[in-house]
Amino acid sequence: MPNLNIAIIGASGGIGSALVKLLSNEPNHIIHAFSRSYIKNDSKNVHVGKIDFNDESSISAAAERATQHFPLDLVIVASGVLHDTGMMPEKSLRDLSATNFEQNFFANTIIPALVAKHFLPKMQRNQRAVFAALSARVGSISDNRLGGWYAYRASKAALNMVIKTTSIEIARRQKQIIVVGLHPGTVATKLSEPFQKRVPPEKLFTADIAAKQLINVLDKLNTDDSGKVFAWDGSEVPY
Ligand SMILES: NC(=O)c1ccc[n+]([C@@H]2O[C@H](COP(=O)([O-])OP(=O)(O)OC[C@H]3O[C@@H](n4cnc5c(N)ncnc54)[C@H](OP(=O)(O)O)[C@@H]3O)[C@@H](O)[C@H]2O)c1
Repeated sequence: MPNLNIAIIGASGGIGSALVKLLSNEPNHIIHAFSRSYIKNDSKNVHVGKIDFNDESSISAAAERATQHFPLDLVIVASGVLHDTGMMPEKSLRDLSATNFEQNFFANTIIPALVAKHFLPKMQRNQRAVFAALSARVGSISDNRLGGWYAYRASKAALNMVIKTTSIEIARRQKQIIVVGLHPGTVATKLSEPFQKRVPPEKLFTADIAAKQLINVLDKLNTDDSGKVFAWDGSEVPY
């Protein structure tokens, strides 16, 4: 994919930083790497920027900055939360709290939706472009066999609805844009760290491998795929 103008949101994360590294290996790509915390990257074709996600004008300013010279060809939202200080995914109804729900919905649903609001209008109008957000298989309602993880599951299911709804609206005016969710598999990052013990080694991807697999999936998509969620191996994840 040469000569693409790309934005990665959540570029400080395990998967986000691996995507920036992988995509910046192509010297003709321009990568805008956004995150809430400061990141350092000396690559010539990487432009880092901070976004204050609590301030919507900061998101729109980032979209403006990334498209000063060219529209965007690829946007990947790689931010998200599963656990944090004082927050672990719930095992049972007993563990539910409004604060956990708010944190999960803010990071996993509201941020990608606001990024879509401000970045999609600045993407290519007359040629193929892809907007992808990192979702998760546990956000699939029909695939839920184990239960638990209420707030994370619900926030990713809601993200999938945002993806589907956005794909319908965008198809009316930017017909060549593909809007999808991605399940990266289990990836060895901070997010999965407390849960890695139960994962067989061959099913725990490094962030570098996960990034490669996700870009391979995105490369193969066409407009009929818009609105859907795809796993790291290219298979569709049911809603
Ligand atoms: N790792 C897995 O096994 C796995 C599996 C399925 C789906 N996913 C999804 O893949 C995505 C990336 O996960 P990862 O494994 O790369 O996790 P990670 O290493 O923990 O990175 C998370 C990223 O999200 C940002 N973030 C978290 N909470 C935020 C908030 N409230 N506001 C703004 N930014 C916030 C972090 O910013 P800071 O650096 O500033 O904290 C970081 O950039 C997530 O959406 C996750 O749900 C991951």
